[in-house]
Amino acid sequence: MAVSGGGAAAAAALALTLLPLFCCCVSGAVHGSSASSALRRAVPRGGAGDGGLCEQMLLPLGYPCTEHTVETSDGFLLSLQHIPHGKNGVADNTGPPVFLQHGLFQGGDTWFINSAEQSLGYILADNGFDVWIGNVRGTRWSKGHSTLTVHDKLFWDWSWQELAEYDLLAMLSYVYTVRQSKILYVGHSQGTIMGLAAFSLPEIAKMISSAALLCPITYLDHVSARFVLRAVAMHLDQMLLTMGIHQLNFRSDMGVQIVDSLCDDGHVDCNSLLSAITGENCCFNGSRVDYYLEYEPHPSSTKNLHHLFEMIRKGTFARYDYGLWGNLKRYGQLRPPPFDLSNIPESLRMWMGYGGLDALADVTDVDRTIKELRSTPELLYIGDYGHIDFVMSVKAKDDVYVDLMRFLRANGSSLHSSY
Ligand SMILES: *[C@@H]1O[C@H](CO)[C@@H](O)[C@H](O)[C@H]1NC(C)=O
Ligand SMILES: *[C@@H]1O[C@H](CO)[C@@H](O)[C@H](O)[C@H]1NC(C)=O
Repeated sequence: MAVSGGGAAAAAALALTLLPLFCCCVSGAVHGSSASSALRRAVPRGGAGDGGLCEQMLLPLGYPCTEHTVETSDGFLLSLQHIPHGKNGVADNTGPPVFLQHGLFQGGDTWFINSAEQSLGYILADNGFDVWIGNVRGTRWSKGHSTLTVHDKLFWDWSWQELAEYDLLAMLSYVYTVRQSKILYVGHSQGTIMGLAAFSLPEIAKMISSAALLCPITYLDHVSARFVLRAVAMHLDQMLLTMGIHQLNFRSDMGVQIVDSLCDDGHVDCNSLLSAITGENCCFNGSRVDYYLEYEPHPSSTKNLHHLFEMIRKGTFARYDYGLWGNLKRYGQLRPPPFDLSNIPESLRMWMGYGGLDALADVTDVDRTIKELRSTPELLYIGDYGHIDFVMSVKAKDDVYVDLMRFLRANGSSLHSSY
């Protein structure tokens, strides 16, 4: 997997492909040192013996937290964390279940990565919600499979379509069975792609009462992040697949090399990297980058990147394109069937938070999503928020989460609140 020899151009090209989606980590580049040295400096967690997310993040702060394992129907073993109440709550005072789904190159840790006063996962638990944390296949918390290992090509043979159809189905079914109650869904970025695709399928929609979507995405053809657009135009997703690179892992030597070649060759001004990638972020905490890098970025698959790039190229919200013959075999038609947003039941209440500076979830694309829904979502638009702010802004509680919780509670639950 080494990027060498005739690969200098390829390395730079790869870097351009990968970095745009490399949100949290790249943020490190903005503050002084280069992204690659930040990556090298960071000591990643989650190795053998490090314990799970509960043990690393929540238990030390005094929050109750248990680890659960869910197997998908295609054999992936996903970890799910359960935080039944806040620090000072009581075990039998069980609030409505809320399920949090992270975005691309992130994991369940994203919801706890700032302080307990700032991070949505803690805030929901402290406000009487029964919190469940999803972790999709391939992330550091969900690397198991009944027969495959991460070294197998087949382990990485999926895109967000499988994350919606298999991972979400398995994780939500588990919560639904345990709680015997409809679930409140919260997703960010790729977590909203997965959610909106899944809600169009009746077996998943029936388990969800309401959904709060941060940076909602279905259509991607107005993405304005310039590095993403360049990478898409250069067909670098296909290039990676051709090179036989199926796992996208920025912790690998190759990943670090890519970041190195990008920054050191002077191809990219690392000081403006974050804004070139996701849009500006108003309230990112630059002093916390080393801590973020202990957890993120998580791996994803090249096939997933390809699916996302195809959405940018074609302006579709459809299943993975296997080519005419492959589609015919798999879907019984020549084109991959779209996920039909009008299939989402009108009774599934929605709330959307989106930002004027978000270069990935563009306002034009968000408007198109809204028009295709049968229900009318409640909207929270924040002009100076970017893509990362919705999960990591130091002011997100007041700017976003207070309203998000009002929405989640609006359907008749009687929860105590400290806000
Ligand atoms: C930013 O992160 C640092 C380091 O964790 C922390 O001490 C500081 O309080 C944070 N700033 C804000 C505004 O939350
Ligand atoms: C919750 O929302 C659903 C769908 O809008 C509605 O049918 C139901 O009556 C609401 N329940 C309460 C308790 O408000």
